[in-house]
Amino acid sequence: MTQVQINLQVFPPMPVVLVGTHVAGRPNFMAQGWITRCNYEPPLLAVAINKGHYTYEGIMQTRQFSICIPGRDLLLETDYCGIVSGRDEDKADLFEVFYGNLPSAPLIADCPLNLACYVVNELEFTTNTLFIAEICEAYADNTKMDGTRPGFREIDPFILTMPDNSYWSLGEPIGKAWQDGKKLDGE
Ligand SMILES: Cc1cc2nc3c(=O)[nH]c(=O)nc-3n(C[C@H](O)[C@H](O)[C@H](O)COP(=O)(O)O)c2cc1C
Repeated sequence: MTQVQINLQVFPPMPVVLVGTHVAGRPNFMAQGWITRCNYEPPLLAVAINKGHYTYEGIMQTRQFSICIPGRDLLLETDYCGIVSGRDEDKADLFEVFYGNLPSAPLIADCPLNLACYVVNELEFTTNTLFIAEICEAYADNTKMDGTRPGFREIDPFILTMPDNSYWSLGEPIGKAWQDGKKLDGE
C-alpha cells in the first residue's frame, strides 16, 4: 500500500439532518451535512451554514433553529430541501410541523429525532458561518426507542459522502465504543 496525496476538498462521512428555522414568519428546512456536537454540558452542537442560504437569514433573525433527523423514508424530501431554496419555493408544507418552547424552531412530526436549539455563539468564515447552539429540547418518536434512548436501528438515519455525493444507510453495529479497545490494554 502507498499513501498518495489527493485534492484538499476532503469530507469525512456526515450524518444528514434537516435544519429548520423561520424566515419571514414561515417554517423553512434545508438539508445539512456539516453538523457536530461540540460540548457535553451544556449540550451544544455546531452547524456550518452558507451565508447565501435562506436558512442563514432565518437564523440570523431568530437565533433559533431545529435539527430534525430523518429516517430513510424521508430521503427524497430531505434531498429536495438540499436542492431548492426557500427563497424560490415555499418548503413549509413538505412536512407536518410541531413546536416545543422555541417558536422559531419548527420540528417535523415524521422525523424520529427532533432537537430545538438556541444560538449561543457564532464563528464567521469566508463562505459559511458556524452557529454554535444549545439543545434546549429534544423529542423522539416513542416507537423508535431503545429503552429510554433513541434507537438508531429503528431511526434508520442516513449518511452523506462527498465528493461522490452518495447517501448510505447506517449498516450493522460492528463494535462497542469505549469498550472494544480495552482488549489491546496491556498487550
Ligand atoms: C445532503 C446535503 C447536505 C447539505 N449540507 C449543507 C451544509 O452542511 N451546509 C450548507 O450551507 N449547505 C448544505 N447543503 C445545501 C443546502 O441544503 C441547499 O443549498 C438548500 O437549498 C438551502 O436552502 P435554503 O436556501 O432554503 O436555506 C446541503 C445539501 C445537501 C443535498
